[in-house]
Amino acid sequence: MSIAELKSLLGSGRISEDEDIIKTYSDDWTGRYRGSARAVISPQSTDEVAEILNWCSTNRVGVVPQGGNTGMVGGSTPLNGELIISLRKMKNVNFSDTNDNQIVAEAGATLLEIQNLALERSMIYGVDFAARDSATIGGTIATNAGGLNVLRYGTTRRQIISVEAVTGTGEIIGNLNGLDKDNTGYHLPSLLCGSEGTLAIVTRAKLRLRPKPKENVSILFGLDTIQDAVNLTEACVSTSTEIIACELFFQKGVDLVREAYDLQPLWNNKNSIYLLCEFAGDLGVLDRLNENVLGEMLRTHDSILVATSDRERQRLWQYRELHTLAISNKGIPLKLDVTIPLGNLTHFLDSIATICGNINPLSIPYVFGHSADGNMHLNILQSEPNVAEMEEEILKFVVSLDGSISAEHGIGRAKAPYLHLQRNEEEIRLFREMKKAFDPKGILNPDVIFPTSR
Ligand code: FAD
Ligand code: MLT
Ligand code: ZN
Repeated sequence: MSIAELKSLLGSGRISEDEDIIKTYSDDWTGRYRGSARAVISPQSTDEVAEILNWCSTNRVGVVPQGGNTGMVGGSTPLNGELIISLRKMKNVNFSDTNDNQIVAEAGATLLEIQNLALERSMIYGVDFAARDSATIGGTIATNAGGLNVLRYGTTRRQIISVEAVTGTGEIIGNLNGLDKDNTGYHLPSLLCGSEGTLAIVTRAKLRLRPKPKENVSILFGLDTIQDAVNLTEACVSTSTEIIACELFFQKGVDLVREAYDLQPLWNNKNSIYLLCEFAGDLGVLDRLNENVLGEMLRTHDSILVATSDRERQRLWQYRELHTLAISNKGIPLKLDVTIPLGNLTHFLDSIATICGNINPLSIPYVFGHSADGNMHLNILQSEPNVAEMEEEILKFVVSLDGSISAEHGIGRAKAPYLHLQRNEEEIRLFREMKKAFDPKGILNPDVIFPTSR
């Protein structure tokens, strides 16, 4: 197989063989997966993606589709000489011409670009998280990204209305009709959302926008027990129709964030647990909160910070949003991203330090996450040399609590060895058959989701 053939097909402007440039694409964000590739290909249209995949399928050349390369499970890293197909140059975004509440985005547009366009019409896009400036629409569809606002707006799967994609043989499928009601066979947007680049490359999508709330209020609670945090989470979710986000984190993570980003201590560090909640709606959000069960807490709880201005709210959100970066500054963590039923969350969180300490007394677990979704992120530093043992032990514990071994980051390569803990043999056989249907030569992300799919 010669890259020259691809160059003659696409024109040399679409292909880089420069090692320094390739290096900026070939390692994953966490630093755990370091890949290599002969070239990075940057198509600028769906037709070009189709041409590339048709050629790669004919020549049996493996490819890794890549958006912002912020994925957390090694799903966008070429580890077996695959070519990198970067969608970053496909960045067009426009409002739909058939529905004011919809946006049409090419795969390489970032979350932030979508959010900024939506704001032009006082609307918002439902998915948001700290990597908004680099995570792309294609990547967030491929991983069914969740983030901070799942509680109110759902994961990416709830935002995507229509999708256009290219299969592993270079066939263009899907449409951008923007019809919520289109029961004409299998629902491609749902099928491709979460498929992690193993069934098709998403090239464009039609996405749902929501009205921008008139007012946002962030409230940080300092708490003393995990059960207090779980109870408060349940109270917020069950009493407020205006709750948007509910994030749980601990003093240990706050210490790291404060040290890395020079932030003020919270209540002189007298609490060990924090719950950061976001409420949004028409004007008077705080008045309405004061009228319901939370009002009592707002009036009596001694560790509480209420922020209404954008600047103040951003200051509070830094304590949560900077966790990932602050931990990654310290080393390459074992990253677990799990869902636990809220009723089992206290037991799970109470057990983590013991599980990690028993396997490796030097390991340092940090826990934080989206508490209303039961989605906890474990980032464990210094887990070497017991990474696999620790990962397997914790994931088996998660499954024993009726949880999920991957909440929002996907399976990628990182969790592929553990997929059998969550899905049964027949399901995995069907997944493989589906992959064969969409990608018969097995060129799309060969080792993602399935340990060895060739
Ligand atoms: P990439 O990393 O480039 O790719 C991710 C996967 O999608 C790979 O398997 C890749 O092959 C595939 N892919 C990429 N583009 C396409 C395409 N066009 N068609 C088909 N497959 C494609 N994730 C969350 O869900 N919630 C969070 O709260 C969250 N917070 C984060 C915070 C930080 C600081 C960082 C760095 C990451 C965070 N993430 C979070 C993880 C990551 O941002 C998401 O997984 C995101 O969806 C990845 O988007 P991306 O464009 O970077 O995709
Ligand atoms: C987040 O919610 O900040 C990320 O999904 C967590 C992580 O980086 O592990
Ligand atoms: Zn998250």
